[in-house]
Amino acid sequence: MRKKVIAGNWKMNMLPNEAIKFIEDFAPRVQNTSNEIILCVPYTNLFYSLLTSQNTNIKIGAQNMHWEEKGAYTGEISGQMLKSIGVEYVIIGHSERRAYFAENDETVNKKIKSALQNGLKPIVCVGESLEQREAGNQEEIVKNQVKLALEGITNNSLEQVIIAYEPIWAIGTGKTATSNDANEMIKTIRKEVASLYNEETAQKLIILYGGSVKSENSKELFSTSDIDGALVGGASLKPDEFAKICLSV
Ligand code: PGA
Repeated sequence: MRKKVIAGNWKMNMLPNEAIKFIEDFAPRVQNTSNEIILCVPYTNLFYSLLTSQNTNIKIGAQNMHWEEKGAYTGEISGQMLKSIGVEYVIIGHSERRAYFAENDETVNKKIKSALQNGLKPIVCVGESLEQREAGNQEEIVKNQVKLALEGITNNSLEQVIIAYEPIWAIGTGKTATSNDANEMIKTIRKEVASLYNEETAQKLIILYGGSVKSENSKELFSTSDIDGALVGGASLKPDEFAKICLSV
């Protein structure tokens, strides 16, 4: 049985005092779940969030990192830096980073490798655009993203990796993929991983769905065969709503 994982992606939202208030309100609501609960917060909130979530079951993640350890990369944060303050997870290759910050399959692959070398667990985002889906290319696009992202990652290291399938047309739009469509794509990803590695590894891999997940649709999404949880944007900004999602499985 794969564990259920629910990760919030706060994107560029929340000031430190808001993050602290959120966690103080949210933590007691989810304290009894055995699901893995992750909050991926802006860099400026990492330290406050780590301190406030001590002695809770909430894990803290970042939303991006650079693949080099250190050096002349003004404005960047490395995996080593994240690890040094106690961060456990990092989102890599979110479609907003691919669209606005020149992230591509090659940088995604380098970042995953660096995250793993630094003992961080990458949450790797893949997903097709509306155009690609309308052209019927979504499976090829997503399979290729997965293949390029995982190039050179060993079987053992893959146990630390989470994949998030996030169709771009469903992010922040209120349009969710049907639970059946999302589940089918996640099965396709699992098959691709089985062909790149082996069936056992593919069965162990945690694959999330993301894109307009809310408490009204999370239960149905989580009841499918292959969706192991969610990466939640907008609905992770409210403690009661995000807690409902975390507890809906
Ligand atoms: P959303 O964002 O839940 O607001 O659609 C999901 C994401 O971008 O990870």
